[in-house]
Amino acid sequence: MNSEEQKKQAALKSLEFIADDCVLGVGTGSTVNHLIAALPSVKNKIEAVTSSSKASTMLLEENGFRVDDLSSVGSPDLYIDGADEITEHFHMIKGGGGALTREKIIAEASRKFVCIIDGSKLVDLLGKFPLPVEVIPMAKSLVARELTKLGGLPELRHDFVTDNGNLILDVHNLKILDPVDLENHINNIPGVVTNGIFAQRSADVMIIGNESGPETKIKN
Ligand code: A5P
Repeated sequence: MNSEEQKKQAALKSLEFIADDCVLGVGTGSTVNHLIAALPSVKNKIEAVTSSSKASTMLLEENGFRVDDLSSVGSPDLYIDGADEITEHFHMIKGGGGALTREKIIAEASRKFVCIIDGSKLVDLLGKFPLPVEVIPMAKSLVARELTKLGGLPELRHDFVTDNGNLILDVHNLKILDPVDLENHINNIPGVVTNGIFAQRSADVMIIGNESGPETKIKN
């Protein structure tokens, strides 16, 4: 089973977490795209939908959903999103698609976060995937220097502007031994909007697609 099939399998399994009258937050990325394609099958259970990116909003609308602002839906019952890396502690790196800030906001607002992944995303230690950091454009050099002091090798994501009008620095070479501490530390650099470590608000559930069927792990 290739990684695309694993993503689809995990996405379909996550539909089981959608209960009646669900206010749903929808993430961004190729795994979530499988979820969006399948959402019409449970449309009768969904009271409202909010989305973490312009790309997901467009896809949701194409599939017949009206997408509301987070502020008007309040606290979503459930947020479903992918990840670039996740550990057994449910800490993640996200933002490969550049939507990390809106993703983090919806994750924080939501009661439950279900992370859907293919098997390659499960790792022992975060950091092999370059850590995305969203920065205010005028601060890019300052932030890059501070990230270098932490041992990282920041690289500007070329020809990319986030939905919020900002830039992304992808930081290579970080060994993320204490995800909560590093998440806070980087977020304290002036000019950083947010970084792609999701440790303070980690996932509650992960669903991993694999050969023998989807595996669901629930955080204690
Ligand atoms: C989007 O900004 C990301 O956080 C995605 O959730 C993450 O990159 C996973 O993407 P894929 O599902 O495409 O692997």
